[in-house]
Amino acid sequence: MFSRAVRPTVSLARSLSTSSQNNAKVAVLGASGGIGQPLSLLLKNSPLVSNLSLYDIAHTPGVAADLSHIETRAHVTGYMGPDQLDAALKGCDVVVIPAGVPRKPGMTRDDLFNTNATIVATLADACARNCPEAMICIIANPVNSTIPITAEVMKKHGVYNPNKVFGVTTLDIVRNLFDSKNTAFDLLVLYFALIALHFQTWLYLTPVVCVHTVP
Ligand SMILES: NC(=O)c1ccc[n+]([C@@H]2O[C@H](COP(=O)([O-])OP(=O)(O)OC[C@H]3O[C@@H](n4cnc5c(N)ncnc54)[C@H](O)[C@@H]3O)[C@@H](O)[C@H]2O)c1
Repeated sequence: MFSRAVRPTVSLARSLSTSSQNNAKVAVLGASGGIGQPLSLLLKNSPLVSNLSLYDIAHTPGVAADLSHIETRAHVTGYMGPDQLDAALKGCDVVVIPAGVPRKPGMTRDDLFNTNATIVATLADACARNCPEAMICIIANPVNSTIPITAEVMKKHGVYNPNKVFGVTTLDIVRNLFDSKNTAFDLLVLYFALIALHFQTWLYLTPVVCVHTVP
């Protein structure tokens, strides 16, 4: 009984903790886009985020102003254009990259390569210079190419850590869950099928499996 009474106190103390775990500075690069805006909104609602840095080549002052009106703890700052990219990334613990062009009907992920490869390489270069220790989470497609590009850029700067570069395939998984019968086996097969689709080389399999083992 005593332990039951104590538990809420411990849990409250943990939630009020000011340890570094609860003080993450997170940057979203491509924050004004279709993925970037709702993602930034979700991050603004996270109690783990103390600073939210929103970067894009367009509209970020407005997006940042809107989000800053939500009464959660994350302090929001907007940065726009290449001149402000370094400032957006200084001291970040986590960088999420949805910047780039999305697929239009009839296009494959490979069709996105020419545009998005350059965008991601430029952003990765800025990460390597300004927050080399940060976890980098790539959403921009084709993920199976943008992750190796990021890895090579980090290597060039001598700051590559394979445990800190992630690719996001969650949207494909969520979409395909609707077709699945939701048995554990179906989900396992689904995860591997999607990872195989996204990652024709298996080089980066481990971090992706870690990201997606939640259910
Ligand atoms: N991995 C996944 O599961 C997944 C899911 C959905 C979308 N995506 C990919 O995410 C990317 C973004 O999709 P979207 O629907 O948000 O597209 P979008 O066009 O709505 O948004 C892209 C944003 O990127 C910005 N941008 C373009 N060049 C930039 C640069 N050099 N620096 C910073 N920002 C830049 C644009 O201004 C825009 O705000 C696409 O490549 C899409 O294929 C991946």
